[in-house]
Amino acid sequence: MLCGQVALIILSAVMMISSLELSHNPLTEAGIGETATLTCNVTGHESGLFYWYKMSCGYMIQTVALGYFDSVNLEAQFKILRFEVKKVGNVYSLIIRNIQKEDEATYFCQAGAAYRMVFVNGTNLAVNQYDVETSRKTLFGNTTTVETNWGPTVIGLGVLCVLCVIVIAILVFFRD
Ligand SMILES: *[C@@H]1O[C@H](CO)[C@@H](O)[C@H](O)[C@H]1NC(C)=O
Ligand SMILES: *[C@@H]1O[C@H](CO)[C@@H](O)[C@H](O)[C@H]1NC(C)=O
Repeated sequence: MLCGQVALIILSAVMMISSLELSHNPLTEAGIGETATLTCNVTGHESGLFYWYKMSCGYMIQTVALGYFDSVNLEAQFKILRFEVKKVGNVYSLIIRNIQKEDEATYFCQAGAAYRMVFVNGTNLAVNQYDVETSRKTLFGNTTTVETNWGPTVIGLGVLCVLCVIVIAILVFFRD
C-alpha cells in the first residue's frame, strides 16, 4: 500500500516535470503462470531512445529493457525465456510469460532523446495467487468426504473402547 502511494507520488512528480497528462497507472491483473502484455505507445516521443523499468516495493528501480530506434533488447537479468520485448510501429510491448509472484511491480516506459526523456506510461502489475487457493479448496474443501472416510475407523475404535471397558469390568468383578 505504502509502495503504491510512493509510486503515485513519484509518478505525480514525473507528470508535473514532463507535463504529461497521465490520469493514474492502469492496473493489469494476472494469475501465476499466466501471460501479461504491457504496452507503451511512444507516438510524439519517437526520438530514438526507449527504456522499460521495473519498480517493486522496497527495491531499487531496475532497467528491464532498453532500445535505440528499432533495436530493443532485454537487460541481462531479464534475458530469461519468460520476458520478451517487441516494437510494432510506435508501440513497444513487454510480454511476461509464466508470471511469478516476483513479477508483481510497477512497470514504466520512458522514451525520447538523450537530453529529453519522458515517462510515457506506467502499469501496475498485480499477481493473483488464486491457484494456491484452488489447491487448498481441493485438499480441504470437501469435509463431508473426509468425515465419511473416517466414520468406520471412529466406530471401530469406539466398539474396541467399549469392549475394553467390559473386559476390565469383568476382570475387576471376578478378581477374587
Ligand atoms: C499504457 O499501458 C496500458 C497497460 O499496458 C495500456 O492498456 C495502455 O494502452 C498504455 N497506454 C499507452 C499510451 O501506451
Ligand atoms: C498511438 O498513439 C497515437 C496518438 O495518440 C494514436 O494515433 C495511435 O493510434 C496509437 N497507436 C496504437 C497502436 O494504439
